[in-house]
Amino acid sequence: MAPITNGRTLFNEIPSGFPEPGKTTVYDTSQTIDLENVPLNGGVLVKTLVLSADPYMRVQMRPADIESYMVIFSLGVGKVIRSEREGFKAGDYVYGLLDHAEYSIPSPDVPIFGIIVFKPEPGLRYSAYIGAGGMPGQTSYYGWKEYANAKAVCYLLSHVFLDLSLSAVFLQGETVFVSGGAGPVGSLVIQLAKQDGLKVIASAGSDEKVQFCKDVGADVAFNYKTTSTLDILRKEGPLNIYWDNVGGTTLDAAIENAANHARFVECGAISQYNSKDGVKMKNLDQIYARRITLYGFLVSDLAPKWQEEFYKVIPKKLASGEFKFTEDVTNGLENSGQAIRDVQTGTNTGKKVIVVAQE
Ligand SMILES: NC(=O)c1ccc[n+]([C@@H]2O[C@H](COP(=O)([O-])OP(=O)(O)OC[C@H]3O[C@@H](n4cnc5c(N)ncnc54)[C@H](OP(=O)(O)O)[C@@H]3O)[C@@H](O)[C@H]2O)c1
Repeated sequence: MAPITNGRTLFNEIPSGFPEPGKTTVYDTSQTIDLENVPLNGGVLVKTLVLSADPYMRVQMRPADIESYMVIFSLGVGKVIRSEREGFKAGDYVYGLLDHAEYSIPSPDVPIFGIIVFKPEPGLRYSAYIGAGGMPGQTSYYGWKEYANAKAVCYLLSHVFLDLSLSAVFLQGETVFVSGGAGPVGSLVIQLAKQDGLKVIASAGSDEKVQFCKDVGADVAFNYKTTSTLDILRKEGPLNIYWDNVGGTTLDAAIENAANHARFVECGAISQYNSKDGVKMKNLDQIYARRITLYGFLVSDLAPKWQEEFYKVIPKKLASGEFKFTEDVTNGLENSGQAIRDVQTGTNTGKKVIVVAQE
């Protein structure tokens, strides 16, 4: 078989604000690949099926001397074409870090997100493994299990004469606020919190996204672009838990409305990734006054402890429909630069999935 074009998306220039397709990233078709003869050197040749566009990709578009710089690659799902590696065979589905290329020879040896063979849960499309069934879902599950310490308080109410036959049990959970509630991370956090019996407040950036937050169980959901976050939190708080996907002024508003001993799960700060100016925080003194604990974490830190349990529990719940998720599909690797930008500007509605090829 003659060599064929191997399209790739390349990191070209450090953005000064939002990434710009064609400038900060470029699509390149100059490389060819001979699928039958390309040397594998003990590795695995993978055809890319779907790739993820994630918020963290903007943070990694940095000068090379700043830690965590990298070129364009992300989590994805592919199919093995040829393998010289034990444990991988032609036809296997793999999940893990893949180049933004139609074909690649990814390493299984990258810590945590090196490629692994997986069998999609019956009824669950493989693209789910880059969203709620993959790294974003793992982020929600690990962070929630490790740090939320969620309490659904159980009250036994008895008749005034203490006639226990007239008793009733009421569950009144703590209150959690989830920003970025409509994305793959936030929407799974909402569902985990509801499962734990909590009252959930969620924010998102469009009415359609607000509706999705409600559809997955949020008791209160609002559009932070048209409604004051402070007003909602003053009315619906105080917050026992804040799941922070956005940082900035939303974090400041959450601190102002925190209950004593609140837990803040610091997952991300997307409002800051494309900004050079930072935000003036007004309420930092309340962290000590209200004895708030902030937990910053990266999903990779917690994977050794929670990954096995995640794969046992979450894909089944997604396949059965008990947990809901949405995808926003971009077709064609040549459009991956735009997909990366969409996630930063918030025009994605659901997990941004780049479909590179059909099987
Ligand atoms: N700690 C970890 O290991 C880890 C792992 C994965 C993800 N994360 C973080 O988790 C967060 C959510 O990730 P995801 O994959 O679920 O993202 P996502 O929801 O698919 O996409 C990002 C969303 O952020 C919102 N956004 C953009 N600019 C914003 C702004 N200025 N203020 C408020 N919201 C803004 C947009 O939604 P709206 O329309 O609602 O504004 C956008 O759709 C991100 O901060 C990400 O970096 C952390």
